Amino acid sequence: MGPGPINADPRVLRAMSAQLVGQYDPAMTAYMTETMGLYRDVFKTANEQTLLIDGTSRAGIEAALVSMIEPGDRVLVPIFGRFGHLLREIAERCGAEVHVREVEWGTVFTPEQIEQAIIETKPKLLAVVHGDTSTTVAQPLDELGAICRAHGVLFYTDVTASLAGNTFETDAWGLDAVTAGLQKCLGGPSGSAPATFSAKAVELINSRKSIEAGIRSEGDPVVSPFGSATPIRSNYFDLSMIFDYWGAKRLNHHTEATSMLYGARECARLLVDEGIDAAVERHRMHGGAMREGLRGLGLRVFGDERYLMNNVTAVYIPEGVVGDAVRGELLDDFGIEIGTSFGPLHGKVWRIGTMGYNARKDTVLTTLSAFEQVLRRAGAPVTAGGGVGAAYDFYTDAHAASAAAAPEFAEADAV
Ligand SMILES: Cc1ncc(COP(=O)(O)O)c(C=O)c1O
Repeated sequence: MGPGPINADPRVLRAMSAQLVGQYDPAMTAYMTETMGLYRDVFKTANEQTLLIDGTSRAGIEAALVSMIEPGDRVLVPIFGRFGHLLREIAERCGAEVHVREVEWGTVFTPEQIEQAIIETKPKLLAVVHGDTSTTVAQPLDELGAICRAHGVLFYTDVTASLAGNTFETDAWGLDAVTAGLQKCLGGPSGSAPATFSAKAVELINSRKSIEAGIRSEGDPVVSPFGSATPIRSNYFDLSMIFDYWGAKRLNHHTEATSMLYGARECARLLVDEGIDAAVERHRMHGGAMREGLRGLGLRVFGDERYLMNNVTAVYIPEGVVGDAVRGELLDDFGIEIGTSFGPLHGKVWRIGTMGYNARKDTVLTTLSAFEQVLRRAGAPVTAGGGVGAAYDFYTDAHAASAAAAPEFAEADAV
């Protein structure tokens, strides 16, 4: 029940134990094509270039940034937690002139603040995290696409922590590049980074295309390091070649990580079967129950209430309680893991996840029940039964609300 990785869905683990097939086996290439289609649904996009980057989530971030940023490009990074700092770090390593704006952890930027920063810094690219796991809040992105378009700025976001657990729309929100990971709300292991790129991003990336010797055919582009376009500074993360590997050309770039492909495909199949909106609702329901349960125990929730993610909650460690001792006891005595925290929040909050396969009623109630016992032993003044009781109340109210809403849905459907 930490902030990820979490328990993988058993269906994903089973898929990953399937036998390997050759790189150009028709089954393998069909899985690749099918996986592209499944992730279009997950990302809510029609982008042709929707694929997997082999590696953990930061591989997806590196591939997107190194393929879009040329040395000297201006990049704007609004930072509201640890992973904004990561975007800055990677953009700097790509040779960008990086401009940052920062707000206090637990809060987010207004669209006006971001537009003002765009006017001041005139970036080629806006790179911003959606849900920052370190602070448990999500930056609203829905108004930023129009702002970026108005100022001719490319728009990238990292949805590793938020995808499938919180409302997210690639096309409707005007994103040019989006990268994710499997280990949070997608219910898989880390090691594959689903990603999607708009036609505008693809055009930019392909303008830097340079096919490596040995797999190059006559007429394939080669970008000279001394010409006007600079070649992409990474071979492994060169999206122009990766697009050709996943596309009709089937360029023999890297060897696709077969078992990770099986896993990533299964994560998406699970979500598409459930329905992306239904999965987000499930996270809203169980995340809400966890949050109310923690409050029912007498704990204080961290972060601006209006922007809290559905899938991870930070709670203040009560005065006089040793955070790591409580985490240790929960793990040793109940087999339940919760998360510590980074940077300015280290030692101040615990982070508790309700995501992916773990976003369930039984996991929420069991965690609250165990947490109450461990907190009491640590000397915290917890309300007896308050956690499970408040979570039950939340479930009852949520069910009543959805039952009351159901006739309207039925009527709307009939119309
Ligand atoms: C928002 C966000 N971005 C990026 C990462 C980095 O992911 P990885 O460790 O899979 O490279 C994480 C990991 O927790 C994350 O939460």
